[in-house]
Amino acid sequence: MPKPKQDSPARVAIAILAAGKGTRLKSKHPKVLHEVGGKPLLAHVIAAATKVVPPSDVYAIIGHEADRVRTAVAASGVKFVLQSEQRGTGHALMVARPALTSYDEVIVLYGDAPLITPQTIEKLRDFHTSRTAAMTILTAELKNPTGYGRILRKKAGRDDVKAIVEQKDLSPAQQKIHEINAGYYAFDGRLLFSHIDKLSSNNHHGELYLTDMATILGKAKQRVVAVQASNPHEVLGGNTRAELAEIDQHMRLAKCQQLMADGVTILYPHTCVIDSDVEVGPDTVIEPFVQLRGTTRIGSDARIGSYSVIINCEIGDQVLVQTGCVLEHSTIKERASMGPYSHLRPGCEICEEAHVGNFVELKKSRLGKGSKANHLTYLGDSEIGEKVNVGAGTITCNYDGVSKHKTIIEDGVFVGSDSILIAPLRIGKGAYIAAATTVTEDVPPDSLALGRARQVVKEGWAREKREKAKAQKAK
Ligand code: UD1
Ligand code: CA
Repeated sequence: MPKPKQDSPARVAIAILAAGKGTRLKSKHPKVLHEVGGKPLLAHVIAAATKVVPPSDVYAIIGHEADRVRTAVAASGVKFVLQSEQRGTGHALMVARPALTSYDEVIVLYGDAPLITPQTIEKLRDFHTSRTAAMTILTAELKNPTGYGRILRKKAGRDDVKAIVEQKDLSPAQQKIHEINAGYYAFDGRLLFSHIDKLSSNNHHGELYLTDMATILGKAKQRVVAVQASNPHEVLGGNTRAELAEIDQHMRLAKCQQLMADGVTILYPHTCVIDSDVEVGPDTVIEPFVQLRGTTRIGSDARIGSYSVIINCEIGDQVLVQTGCVLEHSTIKERASMGPYSHLRPGCEICEEAHVGNFVELKKSRLGKGSKANHLTYLGDSEIGEKVNVGAGTITCNYDGVSKHKTIIEDGVFVGSDSILIAPLRIGKGAYIAAATTVTEDVPPDSLALGRARQVVKEGWAREKREKAKAQKAK
C-alpha cells in the first residue's frame, strides 16, 4: 500500500521526459526544441510545471542533443538528468531514480505535450492524493485516438485501470477504445522505484515503456487509477509536423481568446499569430494578419495594422502602427505613429509623438519626441533630437566599408529632402540642411548647410534639340 499520510507535507518532484530524438519529425533539431506558440515545446511544459512546484524540484530528463536542450531552457532554473542512451520512457525514469528517490510523489510529464496547464497538473496531483493511489494516469477521450496509448479500465465508469496498451500493440477490439494516455502521471515515489526494475522491453519497439507500470503495480496489488482532463486538447502530443501545427493553432487561438477576455479587440483572430508571452493592453485593436512575436508588449488604445510583424518590441499607449510594418527589438513610445511599411531593425527608440512613415528604415537609432521621418529614408546609428524634420529620401551613410559611425542631429533641425549625411557627423540645434545636400562636415547650430552644384539654365536648349531631331528625320 502507499505510504501512510505523514504530518509534514509530501515532497513532490516533477520529471519531464525530454531525451527523445523525435524521429517522426525528420528534423536535425531535437524534438522538444521545436516551437509552438513561439517557443520550444519543452519551455511550455517547464512553464506549467514551475507554477506547481519550485524549479529546484523540476527535473528535465535530456539525452538527444542534451547540450542544446539544456542551454535553451537553462534560464528556467530547473535541474537536468542525462539519459545518454534512450531506451524508452520507463528507462528515462530508471536513469532519474537517484535524483528522485528522496521525493514522496513523482509527477511525470512528457516534454512533447505542451498544452498542459498548471491547473490540470494540480488536478492530477489532488486526484492521486485523494485516491491514495500508487499511480494516477491523466487521460482524455479523443475523437481520433490514433498514435496514443489506450486505457483499459478494470470496469467501465470506474477509476481503476488494468493496463495501458500502446498503438502498435493494440488488438482489433482495443482499437475501438477512445480513452487515451496523455503521458502525464502521478506516482507514489517509493512504489514507482521499488517496482520499476520489473519493466521489460518485450514489445513492438523493444523499449522499456513507462506505461507498463500500470500493469506491474496492479499485479503487485497497488492501486492504479485514471482521471480525465477537462479539456481534451490539453493532452495533445506533437510527434509529427502536422500534430505540431495543430497544437500551435490551439495555443494561438487560446492566446487570442485570453487577450480578448482582457479587453483587446482582435479582428479575425484566426489570422493572427500571437506568441504565448506577448502582452497587450485593453482597447488596443489588432487588425487581421498581424504577427506579434517573442516578448512583445503593447500598451492600451494602440492600433496594429494588418500584415505588421512585431518581434520583441515595447510599444506604448496610443501608438499607431499602420499596415505592413516590420519592427524588431525596439521601443516605440506613447502616441508615436509608424508606417505604412516602416522597418525598425534592432535597437531603435521612437519617442513620444514621433512619426516614421512609408519606406523608412531605422537601425540602432533614436528619433526624439515629435520628430518626423516620413518618406523613403534610411537612418542608421543616429541620435536625432526633438522636433526634427527629416525630409524625404534622406540617407545616413553610417558605414565606410570598415567601421560604423554615428550621426547626431540636434533638436529642431530641418533636413531637406534627398540629403546625404556622411557620418561621423553632428548637425547643431536649429540648423537647416538644404535639399539634396551631401553633408560631409559638422554643421554649427542655427546655420544653413548647402552643398550641391549650382543650377545652370540653358534657355531654348530643349526646343532646339527637338527641332534638330525632326530635321534629321525629314532628310
Ligand atoms: C507516449 C506514450 C503513449 C501516450 C503518448 C502521449 C509510452 C510508451 N507511450 O507515446 O502511451 O499516449 O506518449 O503523448 O510512454 N523520451 C525520453 N526518453 C526515451 C524515450 C522518450 O525522454 O528513452 C521522451 C520523449 O522525448 C518524449 C516523451 O518521452 O518527450 C514521450 O516519448 P514519445 O516517443 O513521444 O512517446 P509516444 O510514442 O508519443
Ligand atoms: Ca509523443
